[in-house]
Amino acid sequence: MILAEHVSYSYGGGGQSVSDLSFRIGKGEFAAILGENGAGKTTTVKLIDGLLKPTEGRMTVNGLDTAKTKVSERARQVGFLFQNPDRQICRNTVRDEIAFGLRAVWGKKEKDRIDERVGELLDLFTFTGDEEPFSLSRGQRQQVALASTLAVKPAVLILDEPTTGLDYRECTRIMEFIRTLNEKEGTTVVMVCHDMEVVLDYARRALVMAGGRLLADGPVREIFRDEVLMERASLLPPQIIRIGGRLGGTFAEADDAETLASLVADEAERRRGA
Ligand SMILES: Nc1ncnc2c1ncn2[C@@H]1O[C@H](COP(=O)(O)OP(=O)(O)O)[C@@H](O)[C@H]1O
Ligand SMILES: [Mg+2]
Repeated sequence: MILAEHVSYSYGGGGQSVSDLSFRIGKGEFAAILGENGAGKTTTVKLIDGLLKPTEGRMTVNGLDTAKTKVSERARQVGFLFQNPDRQICRNTVRDEIAFGLRAVWGKKEKDRIDERVGELLDLFTFTGDEEPFSLSRGQRQQVALASTLAVKPAVLILDEPTTGLDYRECTRIMEFIRTLNEKEGTTVVMVCHDMEVVLDYARRALVMAGGRLLADGPVREIFRDEVLMERASLLPPQIIRIGGRLGGTFAEADDAETLASLVADEAERRRGA
């Protein structure tokens, strides 16, 4: 679905912001891009989206070279949820906001189809449609932005720090929604996220960046268990991985708190018996 071949990008003014990126993300994957501030994560997802064109190398999405794809074509393929929902929201009601993007991509003539799709999304996100986006909470505005992004059913969904500024419940609601979309609709998800617990819970694959380069690419749990890599990328693995790693042995295999707790309980039982 996504193919990066030796992609580099420079914003100008010397130096490359991302250098020689090569990776391939298949249909239906759920990948996270990790790395400290300035590592090149946002630049990378903008290159996937086609908002930026490679200065060197080639980026292909669903067989189309992003450097040669028109904006309207791109919008059908890739949905991009920005870190700040207010950069995306531009209409006065939630209904109009969701319809806006659909009109741009499907055309105004498709009024009935657009109304139907808007209705589906309002139901899904439990909005009436009459809400004014700017009177909603940050988390609700993020949901409005997500609803408009999803409206056209893009094959690839890009999320840049989707949980920033959300409370735990809002975060869970959005992430569960994205999980369903990934599992049921086969939407390919690429998520930039600084919350390693969220990455562990939702993503299956992680690409680790530092200094504009791709340091590693693999299953999330393997990536988190690589202490040398985590150190090099200035990342702190999720708490459960750190505790399991410190305990060692089979404990290090646990990747959720319940599994670890039952392993510890079994061990305690065994010692009492001995
Ligand atoms: N619009 C821009 N103009 C010039 N340099 C930029 C711009 N955006 C990002 N950069 C630089 O590119 C590098 C990567 O930035 P970015 O992709 O935003 O990293 P991240 O999302 O991982 O924090 C940084 O060194 C940053 O300063
Ligand atoms: Mg960023």
